[in-house]
Amino acid sequence: MVRPSGTGPVVLAVSGASAQPLAQRALQLLLEAGEAVELVTSRGAIGVWQAELGLRVPSEPDAQEAFWRERTAVSTGQLRCHRWNDQAAGIASGSFKTRGMVILPASMGTVGRIASGVAIDLVERAADVHLKEGRPLVICPRETPWSLVHLRNLTALAEAGARIAPPVPAWYHQPQSIEDMVDFLVIRIFDVLDYELGNLRRWQGPPHQPGSPGAPATGTTSQ
Ligand SMILES: Cc1cc2nc3c(=O)[nH]c(=O)nc-3n(C[C@H](O)[C@H](O)[C@H](O)COP(=O)(O)O)c2cc1C
Repeated sequence: MVRPSGTGPVVLAVSGASAQPLAQRALQLLLEAGEAVELVTSRGAIGVWQAELGLRVPSEPDAQEAFWRERTAVSTGQLRCHRWNDQAAGIASGSFKTRGMVILPASMGTVGRIASGVAIDLVERAADVHLKEGRPLVICPRETPWSLVHLRNLTALAEAGARIAPPVPAWYHQPQSIEDMVDFLVIRIFDVLDYELGNLRRWQGPPHQPGSPGAPATGTTSQ
């Protein structure tokens, strides 16, 4: 059984699927909100940053922290970065308390290894720890289309207590830009851990029709 979100830092794990900008925005919003983040970026993710954006993410923790501070342009909050294969990191142990863990984005390789209990890198080990401790684990898989293997692995993880939160956009908040879309996705994902990371235009029900009972005098929507 999964316990509700506890106290402590959140583990933000980034694996080698497309959609790295979502991870960067999540980190930025968490730090802006003054939150504590334990960040681990898989070796695959470092390759995707390089392939998609031409960015070289350092693997050493200190250099990585400086890199993310500069990219997010946020100096608040607490950030601790981990080397992708550091199995001695605090987050590799169940005795290290966290509020929960989010894997954003989650590659099918990472999903498959966690679903089989194979913990080769620190993302997989920390996820394994969250499952065994009954702490919230939010997995944001990015692949299309999903094969039966992917679906079975995701089902196994959901059965083990993970929340599966694919980064799927919506239009009801009337996004005006890609940034609006990214914020919607990140904020909805972190809703699962009860973070309030921004002023999302949340759905409040259908707009009132002018003249209907309870309609606002201006006729504006209430979304
Ligand atoms: C540019 C690029 C984009 C990729 N996008 C995805 C993706 O969206 N989903 C996925 O499962 N794998 C994707 N891959 C493949 C993974 O990066 C690869 O399977 C890697 O080994 C995953 O490593 P990790 O699970 O340790 O992060 C992509 C690879 C590259 C180079």
